[in-house]
Amino acid sequence: MSDKNTKRTIVTLPGDGIGKTVLESALQVLEAAGFIADYVEGDIGWEFWRAEGNPLPRRTLDLIAEHKIALFGAITSKPKDEAFEELAPELKSLGLIYASPIVGLRQHFGLDICLRPCHSYHGNPLNFVRRGRDGIFEEPSVDVAIFRQNTEGLYGGVEWSNPPDDVHDALMTHPKFSQNFGDTPIDELSISTRIFTKKATERILRAAFEHAKKYEYKSVTVCEKPNVIRETSGMMYKMAQEIQAADFPGIELWNTNIDAQMMWLTKNPENYDVIVAGNMFGDIVSDGFAGLIGGLGFAASAQYNTDTGIGVFEPTHGSAPRYAGYATSIVNPIAMIEAACMMLDFIDEQAIAIKIRKAVAEIIDEGVIRTYDMARLTGTADVIHRGAASTVGMAEAIIARL
Ligand code: NAI
Ligand code: MG
Repeated sequence: MSDKNTKRTIVTLPGDGIGKTVLESALQVLEAAGFIADYVEGDIGWEFWRAEGNPLPRRTLDLIAEHKIALFGAITSKPKDEAFEELAPELKSLGLIYASPIVGLRQHFGLDICLRPCHSYHGNPLNFVRRGRDGIFEEPSVDVAIFRQNTEGLYGGVEWSNPPDDVHDALMTHPKFSQNFGDTPIDELSISTRIFTKKATERILRAAFEHAKKYEYKSVTVCEKPNVIRETSGMMYKMAQEIQAADFPGIELWNTNIDAQMMWLTKNPENYDVIVAGNMFGDIVSDGFAGLIGGLGFAASAQYNTDTGIGVFEPTHGSAPRYAGYATSIVNPIAMIEAACMMLDFIDEQAIAIKIRKAVAEIIDEGVIRTYDMARLTGTADVIHRGAASTVGMAEAIIARL
């Protein structure tokens, strides 16, 4: 719980490209909404990789550890070889390997809970529309909160190509492995593991149920594949049944398979409330739902650890390098503003978050101020002359409404 009597310090992590622009707009909105805080800027991103050989310097980790709450714009990542090419000449002999600072943040602080809300704003021209009975178009109102386990599973990094002998020997003890892969030469094997621990699984499930309870959602859906991936998905669903029965009897527990869920996205997205999944399926299903509510200009995520209270809040989109050089920034700041609202929820400043979301909703519903994506224009620099609002223009419209 926050202590509202002491002024907070928020770490800002603008990062690269449009991350800087959207973060600046979000900070202006926060200020206009009456959120009082000090800000310290943390170094993160490509610039620091090139100059220092580390896109996530130690001093940035220390800042986050000290202040606990960070607002993150976006960073640029490039493939290994390209990353090496761009290193400062004096660093090239040091054997440095580029690693994503986002993954670095997650691992360093154990940010195991990832929350990605997807709610449609009334009047958003990018909202999903489907043809209903009698050919009449329907615009279902989507309001889901996706809880993605953020540190384990298929993205846990335990993987090999040409695995060492002891790993191979261990795998050979599994009848399915020896039967199906036993004849494959070791150097022709690539293996990525999908590890779920009870501890992290329980934490993501409880986070999902608690969110459902707090915000009065009627159901929690486990979106995995327990009939096929019996051990990991199976464990998650079984634990969900136990947790629901013991502690959340008022909330319905549903179970969908990730593949079927993606098919149902366009059929009945309004039926889902809170969704919980492992790392990869959570990544997939959250992008799927984000597509129904306007895509990258609207999708935000929170990554946090409930034990330490450390949280990093960010838009889902990247640094969009192509758009970063425009004299007038055209990208939509709403995803970053939504990320800032999630930060406010997290630190118990919900009244301010409600105020900001209301202003955003009004501007969208009015339909006068629209960034290029909302106007369905191709993102060239001249969209401003064709009636699209700039990043700053959108932020100012929201501020005026506050
Ligand atoms: P991206 O998300 O940066 O941009 C893809 C396209 O989406 C853009 O070209 C633009 O058309 C649109 N877009 C993105 N943000 C928008 C906004 N706020 N408003 C309107 N339209 C928007 O993804 P891309 O181009 O694949 O990657 C660019 C760089 O960003 C890469 O280096 C990538 O590694 C990095 N990246 C970083 C992420 C992060 O920091 N969380 C996430 C995804 C990519
Ligand atoms: Mg993704």
